[in-house]
Amino acid sequence: MMYEFASRAEAARAVAGRIRVALLSKLANESSTSLIVTGGSSPQLCYELLAEEAMPWERVQIFLSDERWVDSTDERSNEKMVRERLLVSNASDATLHGYYQDAVSIAERCASLTREIEAVPNPLASCLLGMGSDGHIASLFSDSESFAEGISIDSQALCLPVHTRASDVPRLTLTLPALVRSEEVLLLFFGDEKRDVYQQAVASETAYPVSRLLHQTRAAVSAFWAP
Ligand code: 6PG
Repeated sequence: MMYEFASRAEAARAVAGRIRVALLSKLANESSTSLIVTGGSSPQLCYELLAEEAMPWERVQIFLSDERWVDSTDERSNEKMVRERLLVSNASDATLHGYYQDAVSIAERCASLTREIEAVPNPLASCLLGMGSDGHIASLFSDSESFAEGISIDSQALCLPVHTRASDVPRLTLTLPALVRSEEVLLLFFGDEKRDVYQQAVASETAYPVSRLLHQTRAAVSAFWAP
């Protein structure tokens, strides 16, 4: 299902509203819940709107869909962006799981992060993803050595190291089974080029990495688009 909006601000507001409802409905029955959020430019306004929502943020844990393996002070860090846009105002009471750790390999961090993900109530409340114009989601790039394992819905791994020509630094990504360990997946992307990619991905199970998300049946996926 793709929802179309006249402006990016309206799409961002709609997604922030969906996440708010998802978190509150989980928190009505559970003492804590979790949210997966993505990096990139598309979700930034959505994070600013969500941060203003009054809710028991101290009961919310936040995971990243993926991370560039750089210090959290680096401009390329998703943790830095999410701390600055989302973990402010009311949402500053939430707990963010940072991924990068000094002197730790990505494989070692994947092992400890797997334990962190397995420790939170499953399913998570919601997972917000962006999409590249090459159809990647999180850091599931088709040229990566870990792509086949990361994109398989039957993979046992929850996170993997990634090396891709698309990135000047190595990355860590959640796998498809980790991303769909949520009640719902929200895809937020803008512009005609990405809408074309999305439509091709709806039509083909394998054309793009995002195809595999759209054709799995564990979590409902809703797309939010504006020009
Ligand atoms: C990241 C991502 C990545 C992103 C897409 C879209 O950290 O970069 O998690 O998957 O969502 O590349 O990025 P834009 O929103 O900037 O187009």
